[in-house]
Amino acid sequence: MIRQILRRVSRRAEHTVLDVLCVYLTQLSRRKEGRAPFNGEELRLVYHALRSQHLGGTNGEMVGAFEAAFAAAYGVPYAVASTSGTAAVHVALGALDLNPGDEVIVPPITDMGTIIPILYQNAIPVFADVDDTYNMDPRDVERKITARTRAIIVVHLFGNPCDMDAMVEIARRDGIVLIEDSSQAHMTSYKGKYVGTIGDIGCFSFQQSKPMTTGEGGMTITWNKAFHDRMKLFADKGFARKGWGPRSYLFHAPNYRITELVAAVGLAQLHKVQRVVRKRSELGRYMSERLAGLKGVIPAPVTPGAEHTFWQYPIRLTDRDPRDLAAALREAKISSLPGYTGEPIYLCSESLHSKKTYGDSQFPFTSQYSSGTYEYEEGLCPNAERLLDQLLCIPWDESWTRRKIDGVVDIIQRFLSASTPTSISVASPLRPDPRPVTTSRPDSARERIAIIGCGRIGQWHLRAYRRHPEAAIVAVADVDFERARAMAAEVGANAYRSHSEMLAYETLDAASVCSVPSTHHNITIDLLEAGVHVLCEKPLALTVAELREMLEKERAANRLLLPAFKYRFHEEVESARRLLATGSLGRILTFRIMFGGQLDMSGTWYVRPEVSGGGVLMDNGSHSIDLIRHLLGEIGEVTAEATNSQSYGVEDTGKLIVRLEDGAVGTVDLSWAMAVPSRAYLEIFGEHGTILADVEGMSYKFGTWKDWKRLPNQTGWEETFVRQAGSFLGAIVRKHPPVVTSEDGLRTQILLEAAYESIRPRGGAPEPLQV
Ligand SMILES: Cc1ncc(COP(=O)(O)O)c(C=O)c1O
Repeated sequence: MIRQILRRVSRRAEHTVLDVLCVYLTQLSRRKEGRAPFNGEELRLVYHALRSQHLGGTNGEMVGAFEAAFAAAYGVPYAVASTSGTAAVHVALGALDLNPGDEVIVPPITDMGTIIPILYQNAIPVFADVDDTYNMDPRDVERKITARTRAIIVVHLFGNPCDMDAMVEIARRDGIVLIEDSSQAHMTSYKGKYVGTIGDIGCFSFQQSKPMTTGEGGMTITWNKAFHDRMKLFADKGFARKGWGPRSYLFHAPNYRITELVAAVGLAQLHKVQRVVRKRSELGRYMSERLAGLKGVIPAPVTPGAEHTFWQYPIRLTDRDPRDLAAALREAKISSLPGYTGEPIYLCSESLHSKKTYGDSQFPFTSQYSSGTYEYEEGLCPNAERLLDQLLCIPWDESWTRRKIDGVVDIIQRFLSASTPTSISVASPLRPDPRPVTTSRPDSARERIAIIGCGRIGQWHLRAYRRHPEAAIVAVADVDFERARAMAAEVGANAYRSHSEMLAYETLDAASVCSVPSTHHNITIDLLEAGVHVLCEKPLALTVAELREMLEKERAANRLLLPAFKYRFHEEVESARRLLATGSLGRILTFRIMFGGQLDMSGTWYVRPEVSGGGVLMDNGSHSIDLIRHLLGEIGEVTAEATNSQSYGVEDTGKLIVRLEDGAVGTVDLSWAMAVPSRAYLEIFGEHGTILADVEGMSYKFGTWKDWKRLPNQTGWEETFVRQAGSFLGAIVRKHPPVVTSEDGLRTQILLEAAYESIRPRGGAPEPLQV
């Protein structure tokens, strides 16, 4: 009896001492500057864990309780704790039993913790670009799906949920597992559900900066019992614990078990996380309100239907260098991260850009398990690259106040008024900046551009340059002077009757040659000689000999001569190129291009061989040959057949038979006399699937699929000219490698000439074909 009383008294005394200690520690943490996530609540539970004299998680109380409480807080049946967010993602992938070479789609803006577990499972990360929310663009996710895609890992970046309706639809349709990396988005809702519970599996990091933290730690949650059972084993070496006796490790797996101490802290944190997240949301909304009116600043975007919980605050500067703002903030002791991770994650990691994975093996990228060529280099996700250049993240927490935010906004305002806008970078050749183009560049700093030939194609070139702030159209020329005058008036340029008259009066940087083909040779040579870069419409020249002279001049003048093979800039062509680059279509068996229409060409220059150089083969043959080389590789041989049903001086219908260097043979059908019934102008048939491309998008289907998948274009076909002009300007101004070169032009011209040669009557006139 006395012993019982003594035990009770001593337990009460122990509690009292602990409570006093906790109160003291709480006071201590209140006095501390900045974030103080831990206090007496954690201490009390850590003390209980220690008192149990058992810190191993397997048979302890805390780990099981933490997993159960976490699952309950998110309203799902299962949760598996692990040692980090990275481990949590690895545990999720462990549930899938991936094969080497399987593909997992991931975003380019994230922590390496999202990516490295994929490589540890010998699978391949495939990057889908982001949209202006910084999160993965569902349309690009669709584009990246192949027969090898096993999972999509979405990341709710900075606390802003992805477009989960679209992601779920994509994943369900193709039977792909959807994993949500919610490391930065704790207790964050999308359309009434917590992110992490919407897909198949959700992952969380409890690293120190996260809203809920155990210093280091992670959790993986799911609705799916089969996934859970495998995840639980995966975090514990695959160990099927069943008491004494011979052990059984069911599969290849690491040990990610946490201790009772970590779980104790996690349990205490779980009580606080709602409060923490609410505070960060409120601060984030306030920051957005304050930034809303500032010119050149884009506050944090919020996905429709979502709540943003602001792990960090992303500020986008449209016309200032974020590094300069970071320096201004640093002076006030505010830390910030220009470009978040600085570069897209694929450029931050040797495992990706150098494929340095296991020793020198480059496994799995260059193994027999890999079904394609995977390159992790600049240009892979142009939107992400562009956005990171403009991004500044403010890493903050729930200890911030409105006053501190006001202070940051003041610094931003002062920075904006003290600095001058930098130039807006030219859009990536294949993904133009969707922002309306405005320019603050003075005319003298812009490229002085001329258009030669003011017909329909010249108009398209003109409109395209007008979308680029780096270009100023200063002169136009046409033999039809009225036409030149009308175009010049549109843009405030000078009009000329000829390119030579223009060169006598103007100092130019670059020109588009859009006149009839027979003039290309002379005009281009004169322009290059005058030090002007040239973008020349197809066909570049009437003969290979002429074109070789033009290329020689290009080299001697150290200027660029780029062919206007605009199909390379069509969105559906880019979609096809990306899909082909994955190698998932297998060996290419055959292909077909069809360009046709019932067109009345009589009276036009197209049917005058001395002006056009040939008929329908010359007209669209160069586009077709370049398209095949661009998508499928080098061509070994081209032969032709041709007819002339409309009695022009040139062929009005023709066929090219094209043999690739790797042996595959395909055809090109071209006609001014017959319409093509098919919507697709391009068909590619591979061992494992088929691609169909038309001007509104690309459709594709793998052999194992029931239905076709459609990737509609996001922009109209006029944008192809804008992208083409962007590539030209990028090559001139920033020395970016152009998407197409004069060597491509030469190779195409040689192949086209060989095709004509194959139908020229033996001993016939060497000049353009008369059918
Ligand atoms: C989105 C995302 N995924 C994964 C991780 C990896 O988490 P940990 O550092 O806990 O391994 C992080 C960490 O910052 C993250 O932000």
